[in-house]
Amino acid sequence: MSRRAVSNDPKGTQVRVHVDPAKCQGHNRCFALAPELFDVDDYGNASERNDGIVPEGLEEKARTAAANCPEFAITVDPA
Ligand code: F3S
Repeated sequence: MSRRAVSNDPKGTQVRVHVDPAKCQGHNRCFALAPELFDVDDYGNASERNDGIVPEGLEEKARTAAANCPEFAITVDPA
């Protein structure tokens, strides 16, 4: 059985980040902490890269970014 390369969560679950555009106020902490996972537009509002799929080894970065968003705009869930 093959596992997908993006799976390295402690629970063995692939995770995905999501930015709620209605909550994002452009604080940019997510991009500063995890530029591999987020893009920002000209107004500083964030969106998830790669459809939100978190590459292997970056799961903790995803959670750190979510924990540091003052607007609680980021969620990290099983993909
Ligand atoms: Fe927006 Fe939060 Fe990032 S407000 S720019 S999702 S830190």
